[in-house]
Amino acid sequence: MTKSVLDTVQRWLSDLPRGLRDHIHRVEEISEELARAHQVGHDRVRLCAQAHDLCRAMKGDELLEKARELGIPVHPVEERMPILLHGPVAAELLRREGLDDDAVYQGVYYHSTACPGLDPVAKVVFLADKLDPHKAKRYPYLGELKVAALESLDSALLEFLTREITSFLEKGQLVHPASIEARNELLMVSPGS
Ligand SMILES: [Fe+2]
Ligand SMILES: [Fe+2]
Repeated sequence: MTKSVLDTVQRWLSDLPRGLRDHIHRVEEISEELARAHQVGHDRVRLCAQAHDLCRAMKGDELLEKARELGIPVHPVEERMPILLHGPVAAELLRREGLDDDAVYQGVYYHSTACPGLDPVAKVVFLADKLDPHKAKRYPYLGELKVAALESLDSALLEFLTREITSFLEKGQLVHPASIEARNELLMVSPGS
């Protein structure tokens, strides 16, 4: 990992609103706990956790404009919900700053939707992001999810995606196809399926 990327992340972090920095810090701590439980590289997980929401404070139209400028393919679902682009935009901006770790890039890029073939680093950060205790209202099953995540990243991810997709469907909301594809992949490899 080049030092310039680490410096860039620290610099961008320090410019974020306080509430967002606090969330990122909690995600970093939970990521470290999950990384320890599953022997996933600490440094990469820490960087991925620190970087995942670097563009979370950007407005929707700004994200769309940046995504187009960076050559990120924008799905119609993302056009409708541009907030989904805060991961892809952060990942691409960091790549241009010298980020050369594909797992960290993938973890930042897909931390909102997930996708098939996620690296363990990305799985850890995806789950840690949802396990922030401040999200307990949004995810009332957070306690169970934490227990599952400490046991198996894949089972926890499958459980989360099933609940999340079901909730979107029940509310008549759009579902990003990457989430469906991620769940299909996990279902096909999970025992008993
Ligand atoms: Fe995010
Ligand atoms: Fe987050």
